[in-house]
Amino acid sequence: MTSLTGSDFDFAFLEEGFCARDIVEQKINESSLSDDKDAFYVADLGDVLKKHLRWLRVLPRITPFYAVKCNDSRAVVTTLASLGAGFDCASKTEIQIVQSVGVEPSRIIYANPCKQVSQIKYASAHGVQMMTFDSEVELMKVARSHENSKLVLRIATDDSKAVCRLSVKFGATLKSSRLLLERAKELGLDVIGVSFHVGSGCTDPETYRQAISDARYVFDMGAELGYDMTLLDIGGGFPGSDDTKLKFEEIAAVINPALDKYFPVDCGVRIIAEPGRYYVASAYTLAVNIIAKKVIMKEQSASDEEEDGANDRTLMYYVNDGVYGSFNCILYDHAHVLPTLHKKPKPDERMYPCSIWGPTCDGLDRIVEQCSLPDMQMGDWLLFENMGAYTVAASSTFNGFQKPDIHYIMSRTAWGHMMRFQFVLSLWSVTSSWCIKKICKVAKTKVSNPKRYSL
Ligand SMILES: Cc1ncc(COP(=O)(O)O)c(C=O)c1O
Repeated sequence: MTSLTGSDFDFAFLEEGFCARDIVEQKINESSLSDDKDAFYVADLGDVLKKHLRWLRVLPRITPFYAVKCNDSRAVVTTLASLGAGFDCASKTEIQIVQSVGVEPSRIIYANPCKQVSQIKYASAHGVQMMTFDSEVELMKVARSHENSKLVLRIATDDSKAVCRLSVKFGATLKSSRLLLERAKELGLDVIGVSFHVGSGCTDPETYRQAISDARYVFDMGAELGYDMTLLDIGGGFPGSDDTKLKFEEIAAVINPALDKYFPVDCGVRIIAEPGRYYVASAYTLAVNIIAKKVIMKEQSASDEEEDGANDRTLMYYVNDGVYGSFNCILYDHAHVLPTLHKKPKPDERMYPCSIWGPTCDGLDRIVEQCSLPDMQMGDWLLFENMGAYTVAASSTFNGFQKPDIHYIMSRTAWGHMMRFQFVLSLWSVTSSWCIKKICKVAKTKVSNPKRYSL
């Protein structure tokens, strides 16, 4: 494994034939020589690249604007920036993160319908124009604080079947959409499109179809009021791994025909989305160490006397990351996690009913209420896969427990793909900037060079 330290992010090259699991193994072996057995992540940036290629293949009409809230690691943001993705930012700090890696303002949507005035002013000062709204108060704030805003009306969806509902908090009804568009017109604001979110962890692809049809209705409403809208933003909600009931491709099989019906290719509407979980969940594996253990013997009754199996005891394992850290996803993201064993159990190994707890002093800090595991020892490791979404981004250091280190890796093949991708993007950027210059010369308008970023 060769370390590459770039100015933008650090990762290690994964040599041919090795995978993320091998690096987990290597880190665990290294730690066996010392007492330092802190929890750690291995994050495969090549997995983020694979997700991007899959997105382009499956949803070719939709430009992804990665939802930074899901995982704001610089390495993830830089990887996606270099692949040409856009970004959904919810705050000034997220805008700063994205702009610090050289992303142009036109590739950012400030997708928070309820913003602090000072942060709207920040967006304005830093060239971020696209932003969502769903209320009259927001329209008035934007009218006062941002001269060049391009507004996107967020509509509510029926997200009752999603794991994390969002339309309970955000989104205008179709009825109030007309009033909001009328008000925006009175205020002289430019409404360029419609957005929605079907809820994170969508379980019913029909929700997308209905929301796309509702968006069409709002586009038509806007046209009646004199708006020529050109942007549809279909939000997030896509699965982050392949172990979910509803697969990414199944969702796409509903979205693509719905777009073709309500927003055909030649209708002049640009389509974007705000995937978060989709891009990062499966890239991250978390390794935690058993720091304490308790054996709870069952009180014996006469009928239990002959019981000598696994049923006479319950094991409580305490590990060095918990719900105040990476496993906050259990509380905030309704996640259900299960470990895989680092040491493979023998075929006839006895399994025990177990619970797994985090390291803090809070009784709430329980990671798994019930599972079946062998009798393990302090110092043994448990692995949790698919831990990239809504984990590190919201973890705290409550009780003084530090956040796990993240070891970023990428295979040389993935790196090669990224370089080629960047080359094609820069060619496209040069060509399109040449075309724009030509067009603008004719129109006698001055243009500035588009910014580029490098790894
Ligand atoms: C406005 C907005 N866009 C996108 C996302 C990302 O959603 P997901 O991770 O389900 O793709 C969220 C998540 O809360 C959101 O609030």
